[in-house]
Amino acid sequence: DGDVYKYYVDGQWNKSSSGKSVPIINPTTRKTHYKVQACTQEEVNNVIDSAKKAQKLWAKTPLWKRAELLHKAAAILKENKAPIAECLVKEIAKPAKDAVTEVVRSGDLVSYCAEEGVRILGEGKFLVSDSFPGNDRTKYCLTSKIPLGVVLAIPPFNYPVNLAISKIAPALIAGNSIVLKPPTQGAVAALHMVHCFHLAGFPKGLIGCVTGKGSEIGDFLTMHPGVNCISFTGGDTGISISRKAGMIPLQMELGGKDACIVLEDADLDLAVANIVKGGFSYSGQRCTAVKVVLVMEQIASSLVKKVNEKVAKLTVGAPEDNCDITPVVTESSANFIEGLVKDAKEKKATFCQEYKREGNLIWPLLLDNVRPDMRIAWEEPFGPVLPVIRIKTVEEGIHHCNASNFGLQGCVFTSDINKAIMISDAMETGTVQINSAPARGPDHFPFQGLKDSGIGSQGITNSINIMTKVKTTVINLP
Ligand code: G3P
Repeated sequence: DGDVYKYYVDGQWNKSSSGKSVPIINPTTRKTHYKVQACTQEEVNNVIDSAKKAQKLWAKTPLWKRAELLHKAAAILKENKAPIAECLVKEIAKPAKDAVTEVVRSGDLVSYCAEEGVRILGEGKFLVSDSFPGNDRTKYCLTSKIPLGVVLAIPPFNYPVNLAISKIAPALIAGNSIVLKPPTQGAVAALHMVHCFHLAGFPKGLIGCVTGKGSEIGDFLTMHPGVNCISFTGGDTGISISRKAGMIPLQMELGGKDACIVLEDADLDLAVANIVKGGFSYSGQRCTAVKVVLVMEQIASSLVKKVNEKVAKLTVGAPEDNCDITPVVTESSANFIEGLVKDAKEKKATFCQEYKREGNLIWPLLLDNVRPDMRIAWEEPFGPVLPVIRIKTVEEGIHHCNASNFGLQGCVFTSDINKAIMISDAMETGTVQINSAPARGPDHFPFQGLKDSGIGSQGITNSINIMTKVKTTVINLP
């Protein structure tokens, strides 16, 4: 039936033979808004087979031609920012303006990737043998980067377009093909994005997109022998994927508990603005959101007061109205957040606002005097709830940050650059931001998590490199 969005295989939009669909619930209305195909394992096989065949020819397509097609896709994507953003509003309740920004940012990412790809893949290395002991200059070694094959891209709900693109564009420029499994919430936005690549004229089969339940096709995809690389962003499913996947490169980003350390000498207004933006943008549903504030005792009360003044100004409501705080993605997500709030209440955290929830909509909440025995001190709510822990020493803050199983990003606010660098070195996270909230972008910056936050580095250049391997030819002279 026409109401169910088709999946994409071999350059065509098809219905699944399963006859089943997966509903996408609008987080705001909590009613089914779209439906996508529930693909079968056989259909997954077909998508991977088709991607495998297409990749062989694509790898031989000149780099400049691959770049040209990517630039074309970027332009089409930007032209279609409005309908794609509309899907993001309905599927994941992303505020309308931010939804448009996500699509535009994605178009820019594709273009940058094309440019970066032609540069870094256009270069190889030349080595000579006589630098290693015992060798004469009789061997010339030539290296270049070759594609891996089929890259499986699994983006999360919070950036269904941008975090799909950040996997697709590097894979394609490097000569790989793509099998995309979008998140259920955000699948329709992703299908529209795939259609932009279709319109750009990429070869049949090079990009495939299967939709369906993770429980039915998730393991089948990630353990599939036809997959040569997995690029995943999401929750701790990534840990089980890494245990089950074969001997293939994995690029994974699995969330964080990004700490914000505020020292006595910090520019307090700057810290406050970043805490509110970092903690509450997209209702805290970002891996790089500020997820715990660690503030020196002497300035804690004035910091909390200023944060509360700003929290009071946050607008709460529908994504269509561009509200700052919008409904969280699912009811189960809202229930999980509520569980953390209840735990903090029982353990006597200070509630700076009253806890309020209507459906999936949770009002922004700052919890002061949080202690390490509370779940919110360690777990990521992925919602608009931000804990503040008052610390007596910088070491205490660093200790809390490093005791986390996560290690994505962190930030420190101080006017002493020497201290900032020492703290950055001491924090066991992939990135530390000095005097700004954590953020993945600009998208060419390296982005990586330590510990349970992931493996492999992202960012345009690193992604291109991870999606290639080195091929060497040695010329042996007489
Ligand atoms: O949550 C996904 C992560 O990649 C965040 O990206 O741009 O919000 O820092 P960003």
